[in-house]
Amino acid sequence: MPEIQRLIDMLPALLPGHGRIMDVGCGNGDLVHRLRRLGYDAFGIDPQVDEMAGHEALIPGEAAHLPVEQGLVQVALMVNSFHHVPPGEMDRALGEIAYALAPGGRLIVVEPLAEGGWFELLRPLEDETEMRAAAEAAIERASIVGFVHANPHVYLAERRAADLEEVLEAFVAAEPGRGPGVGPARAEVARRFASTGRADGEGRVFLQPMRLDILDLPAGQPVVRFAHDDDERSRAFEVRQAVFCDEQGVSIEGEFDGLDDACEHLVATMGQRIVGAARIRPYGENGSIGKIERVAVLKEARGTGMGERLVRFASEVLQARGHRILLLNAQVHAERFYRRLGYLPEGELFDDEGIPHIAMLRRN
Ligand code: COA
Repeated sequence: MPEIQRLIDMLPALLPGHGRIMDVGCGNGDLVHRLRRLGYDAFGIDPQVDEMAGHEALIPGEAAHLPVEQGLVQVALMVNSFHHVPPGEMDRALGEIAYALAPGGRLIVVEPLAEGGWFELLRPLEDETEMRAAAEAAIERASIVGFVHANPHVYLAERRAADLEEVLEAFVAAEPGRGPGVGPARAEVARRFASTGRADGEGRVFLQPMRLDILDLPAGQPVVRFAHDDDERSRAFEVRQAVFCDEQGVSIEGEFDGLDDACEHLVATMGQRIVGAARIRPYGENGSIGKIERVAVLKEARGTGMGERLVRFASEVLQARGHRILLLNAQVHAERFYRRLGYLPEGELFDDEGIPHIAMLRRN
């Protein structure tokens, strides 16, 4: 694939320093193998890596649940793979990469845009319009995790194919799940193959606009993401216990209300330390409302924007998942804090564990 050579050529200028490179969604490991031959300390992760037949540098796993240690890698690469992450998991995947990156690390994402001749060829077999748009939107909001995002570099890639069979093989090699769709789509792909692109010797050439994004994780900056594993979930619970039970006098039974297994848990971190927590869940009829609960920041980390980062992350994730209404029950002292993040009070004050609360809604 031409992007791989292009990326390898650019890499010396893109690397923030020496260290390990992780290729997330590495497919058959082509890029990893090439990087290792060039002397880089690279490994790859992909759901399709077969553990039995695998290579030591290729690990089975998904972007949204990376099987790596915290702070292990200097650079994460995602080449043509981010749009294959399920849209509802894209923010989780960005958080997992932040977990894997060392402070000062960098994520480089190369993605095809939903336009151009090559994209039009693929469309009868798989229309990736929505998934590519979701990927672009998730990259645009990566600052909610803590990434600093430079302007994307947009360029035109050329895809060359000798004949229709080569095109279809390339599509299925990139995503084996497309195999069964080849038969029904063949005639339309053939029509497009003959009528788009330009002739080049025996075959044809098609354009594919690409975007390359550089997302940096500055050292010493907070990160907000989903809890990586059970251990982090327990540490998030410790934050809640310190803040709500020890500090505010909420009972343990009131705080740990039996709903935690139905929630997704968020953490705010400084280095490897978890200093803030929150949980989110679908709520109401059909789960159409996005609810944010248990927002807590340890006393010593307050007033530095940590709480705001947590609520912004939770709100953006819920909004991206399609929740038009977001709800939280605010302690009344925090009403102004939530107002600044777009939430408005609704209804009467009520008591919960001796603390006055008010429901607050944000309509997206
Ligand atoms: N009342 C009014 N304003 C508040 C506030 C409060 N309780 N907490 C924070 N703010 C203001 C801050 O002053 C800051 O404003 P500034 O930028 O003008 O100085 C702004 O909101 C952003 O604050 P931030 O630093 O992001 O908040 P935080 O990290 O201190 O976290 C809480 C905010 C509420 C999560 C934190 O104070 C906390 O954990 N409190 C105890 C638990 C709690 O009450 N949770 C809320 C349950 S609904």
